[in-house]
Amino acid sequence: SKPTIFVTRRLPSEAQQRLESLGDRAIVKQHNSIENISRQDLLDSIKGIDGLICLLSEKIDQELLRTAGPQLKVISTISVGYDHIDTAAVKAHGIKLGYTPDVLTDATADTTVLLALMASRRAKESLEIVKSGKGSGFSLSTGLGTQFSGKTLGIVGFGRIGCATTARLVPFGFTRVLYTASRAHEKRARPFNAEHASFETLLSQSDLICICCPLNKQTQGMFDARAFAMMKPTGILVNTARGAVVNQEDLLEALDRGLLAHAALDVTVPEPLPCDHPLVLHAKCTVLPHIGSATEETRNAMGNLAIDNALAGVFDQPLKAEVQL
Ligand code: GLV
Ligand code: GLV
Repeated sequence: SKPTIFVTRRLPSEAQQRLESLGDRAIVKQHNSIENISRQDLLDSIKGIDGLICLLSEKIDQELLRTAGPQLKVISTISVGYDHIDTAAVKAHGIKLGYTPDVLTDATADTTVLLALMASRRAKESLEIVKSGKGSGFSLSTGLGTQFSGKTLGIVGFGRIGCATTARLVPFGFTRVLYTASRAHEKRARPFNAEHASFETLLSQSDLICICCPLNKQTQGMFDARAFAMMKPTGILVNTARGAVVNQEDLLEALDRGLLAHAALDVTVPEPLPCDHPLVLHAKCTVLPHIGSATEETRNAMGNLAIDNALAGVFDQPLKAEVQL
């Protein structure tokens, strides 16, 4: 009999079309909406499935795995991050975990550059001035930002996205690159002369800090009051990783106290951040609604890779992109 795959969301158009053409190989069931599935509907939908295609908005835990049943072979998340998944539980159940690295690296690095430029050139304040109608047009001495030439770039997490971000930003004229990672990446660091630094060195010497690391026990809340106190008052922080890497209360206080110049966040806790949240309203904080990988090309590629992973999993083949648990 054919395996059953449950998909928690409507996919981007090309990937959705492919999903709908899988009928001769698998039974595909879907929460056919672009909105989040509720926890209860999810639990009600997964009994007896062989494969699950899910998103970072769904918590994959013991309860869910038990509810699905022992025939479940593969969880295929449409994301590179898998902090929403209890990996120990997945491993204990003998389930494979697929994810979508590589295909979203360029789009996410592009978004990091977008936020870095918005922050350094104070785009949020400028846009507000235009909207208010109170601007005076060209101004010689107000609304001035800073530029990257001659500055030091700090990259937190030197994986695929951190490296692609560095490759994009170095041509802007940074003369020094520091990175933190659990180990030195000599080969990928060489083209940029990037130096493996301690977190403290990176904080105190970088003009622009980009967070490109996964969320885990080591990185949760690593940008806290102590970290902000070490940043340059002119420093800029960009986060396109996970909101919980930053302690948002500490960030707010640090912005108010002038411990850094600007924070630009594509990711927050919660998502979305309420529109009256002090970080959303803050002149020194730019917030985007988690659009790091949000391009037509990348989202279709992510959907396709997630389908590939799910199909491979239900047919006992090696996954194209598997998290080593
Ligand atoms: C998005 O945040 C992802 O992990 O792919
Ligand atoms: C994930 O963090 C990646 O670098 O792809």
